[in-house]
Amino acid sequence: MTQHHRITLLPGDGIGPEIMAVAVEVLREVASKCALQLEFTEALIGGAAIDATGSPLPEETLETCRKSDAVLLAAIGGYKWDNLARQQRPETGLLGLRAGLGLFANLRPATIFPQLIDASSLKREVVEGVDIMVVRELTGGIYFGQPKGIFEAETGEKRGVNTMAYLEGEIDRIAKVGFETAQKRRGKLCSVDKANVLDVSQLWRDRVTLMAAQYPDVELSHLYVDNAAMQLVRAPKQFDTIVTGNLFGDILSDEAAMLTGSIGMLPSASLGADGPGLFEPVHGSAPDIAGQDKANPLAQVLSAAMMLRYGLDCPEGADKIEQAVLQVLEQGYRTGDIMSEGMKAVGCQGMGEALLEALRSF
Ligand code: IPM
Ligand code: MG
Repeated sequence: MTQHHRITLLPGDGIGPEIMAVAVEVLREVASKCALQLEFTEALIGGAAIDATGSPLPEETLETCRKSDAVLLAAIGGYKWDNLARQQRPETGLLGLRAGLGLFANLRPATIFPQLIDASSLKREVVEGVDIMVVRELTGGIYFGQPKGIFEAETGEKRGVNTMAYLEGEIDRIAKVGFETAQKRRGKLCSVDKANVLDVSQLWRDRVTLMAAQYPDVELSHLYVDNAAMQLVRAPKQFDTIVTGNLFGDILSDEAAMLTGSIGMLPSASLGADGPGLFEPVHGSAPDIAGQDKANPLAQVLSAAMMLRYGLDCPEGADKIEQAVLQVLEQGYRTGDIMSEGMKAVGCQGMGEALLEALRSF
């Protein structure tokens, strides 16, 4: 039976539209093979939305996303909008989308592709075989805690304030995702906090520890975030699943991404309790190379795979896309960010064509 899915596409800014175009072509090809009927609706977010409507997240975009089965986002932001007030910045649109869809769980895999080991800045023996899943809390913590803002202090100076706060329930629901993710992987969960200094982290550690009793098959450990940052580059293979708060997850997921050589390879999935998930590459909008056919579309394409796997319950489609990515890497196709000697240099579109060819060959 053909399954029908409505997908909202948010190409955004910078290299966003180019990499999104490749992902859509790939999805169309996979759909024709997997008896999927995909209906795409494009909507505005980020700088593109600011230019067209004055808001980085127009109400209409949020509505379109809510009515769809999954949302595929490319990237937002660019120099042009960097000096706007916070409320009008592209990033505020993305945070509004995450909050508006209740996407509290952000899954960021950092997997080494064997073909790309030499693109990593770390030694082969350190990174070979790395396979980490960072589960980042996405709608709480210091990103959203109140009070926040720039206020006038009693001294007459300005005082900048953000608040790192978590409710027990917010910790429990992300911890549950962490444990369940670990169960489906190698059964190891490392919770990262700063419980030696922060009260909010002490509560985090207490709740995660309490939950461990329900998951006797998962081996739980705890690390302070500074140590975790160090261990990630010292001995990354010790990690399986990492669960952590919003800010620590933001930082550690970029660090984990670089183990793999290029942030241009890594997808992510953001999921809520129900409703559509949001699927986006971990990288940004790379305004310096936008519109030049230089961008690496693979993280976007792998995000589309995660969308099929986690958002639309079509693991076969996801497998096909992931196999196609492996095949083009095996064939030696490389965009600039992952280029090495003897490989075939391609642009964004060229990589897209190679992927389509690979998919047609299966
Ligand atoms: C990310 C980004 C965002 C974040 C920015 C663009 C708001 O860095 O998705 O990791 O900090 O969450
Ligand atoms: Mg980030």
